[in-house]
Amino acid sequence: MNRRAFHRAALGVASGALCRGLFAQGSAPYEPTWASLKTHPVPDWYRNAKFGIFVHWGLYSVPAWAVPTGELGKVEPGKWFIDNPYAEWYLNTLRIAGSPTAKHHAETYGKDFDYYNFRPMFNKAVAAWDPNVMASLFHGAGARYVVLTTKHHDGFTLFPSRVKNPRHPGLSTTRDLVGDLAAAVRGKGMKMGTYYSGGLDWTFTSEPIRNFADIRARVPQSEEYAQYADAHWRELIERYRPAVMWNDIDYPKAGKLPQLFAQFYNTVPDGVIDNRFGVEFADFTTPEYAKYDKITEKKWESCRGLGFSFGYNQVEGPEQVIAADKLIALLVDIVSKNGNLLLNVGPKPDGSISEIQLDRLHKLGDWLAVNGEGIFDTHPWVRASPPAASGPQVRFTHKGDSLYAFFLERPEAPRVTLPGVVASEGTAVRVLGAGADTKWEQQGRDVLVNIGQTPGPYAMGLRITPAPRALD
Ligand code: GLC
Repeated sequence: MNRRAFHRAALGVASGALCRGLFAQGSAPYEPTWASLKTHPVPDWYRNAKFGIFVHWGLYSVPAWAVPTGELGKVEPGKWFIDNPYAEWYLNTLRIAGSPTAKHHAETYGKDFDYYNFRPMFNKAVAAWDPNVMASLFHGAGARYVVLTTKHHDGFTLFPSRVKNPRHPGLSTTRDLVGDLAAAVRGKGMKMGTYYSGGLDWTFTSEPIRNFADIRARVPQSEEYAQYADAHWRELIERYRPAVMWNDIDYPKAGKLPQLFAQFYNTVPDGVIDNRFGVEFADFTTPEYAKYDKITEKKWESCRGLGFSFGYNQVEGPEQVIAADKLIALLVDIVSKNGNLLLNVGPKPDGSISEIQLDRLHKLGDWLAVNGEGIFDTHPWVRASPPAASGPQVRFTHKGDSLYAFFLERPEAPRVTLPGVVASEGTAVRVLGAGADTKWEQQGRDVLVNIGQTPGPYAMGLRITPAPRALD
């Protein structure tokens, strides 16, 4: 079977039974070569998903502490590692003598308290966790997929791995958090992806990372580590059949990536691979606390924490956590440019979510329940925003024969201007969530829309059918 036919079969046309049949016959259409792997198309589910939840959960969730210095990219690089706002970097910051984390740790737990002593506390806290509560929360927020840290840089795995850490025994949870969350997430109709820190594993290194140049130098390059990382990824694929292989930082040079990727695509044909394996090959790119400023053809996914950290940081409050109106505007902006938003939630050790993070997820979910038709399953239009950017910010998306126009800030009622478009007679314009179409008129290069009352405090969406013509 040629690759194109395989994809038609595996990605949609075929039933699950046919897929199972294919694999039962021992068919393995992807070969471990870059040429073969490059024929893998980015699947529709991932293009259409637009919004996923990233979960950083691990031993660092126990101390849950970092200096909330600022967002990545907005902090002076020289300050980043000693005042690292990423709470999941707790162990690295602790290893930097004189850091605020080292001081906090000594005061709270005693200076001889080993980081890995958080293990029994974490294992105890997760025992009563209900994955269905977490999955319902993410589903209610509108997420279509979830990506969980299965091993972060500290080397602790969230599944009882059969691959033993050669340096540090007992470095897994006793409960299978990955399997339990995967089942709950899939039960809600969402896809489940796995994050794995292939590039950094601090059980293989003892020197802390003090600057950005150190990161590459701390990727363990021993054959032993390469085999360990490969075995972990193989285990994740076999056990959980993840929809996303979300590797972080880099990968040991001796790792067998083409073999791993072929195994993945042959197991999960509509799976996707991120761009952090240190090779050019990827289904999507991953700007972090960053986004592209125009429509970018290569599929991309912007990730960020709700605050300045991925792991839960108990110090963070409203000053650090993104406001609901900004979060909604961020999602719309990303989607208009062909991106997905992978929004991170940092659970407490027992799997519960802080009030402020819950608040943002609920508000986003409420907004998506009304406006999601202009977000999910859409494509970028011919442009992401109007040519003349005066007045309130507008972003476009496109689906079927409709154009969606979102006003990122709450517009002034009763009338809004959509610049640079010509609508044909008979065009129907509706404020998303309204029960009826609304009046509009063409005035030169603009369409003026009577929105009556402003529908809510967040971005407002209009559906315009058929899609108008864009003016230069
Ligand atoms: C980074 C960080 C990390 C976080 C991740 C998420 O590279 O090291 O803590 O997991 O990106 O994108």
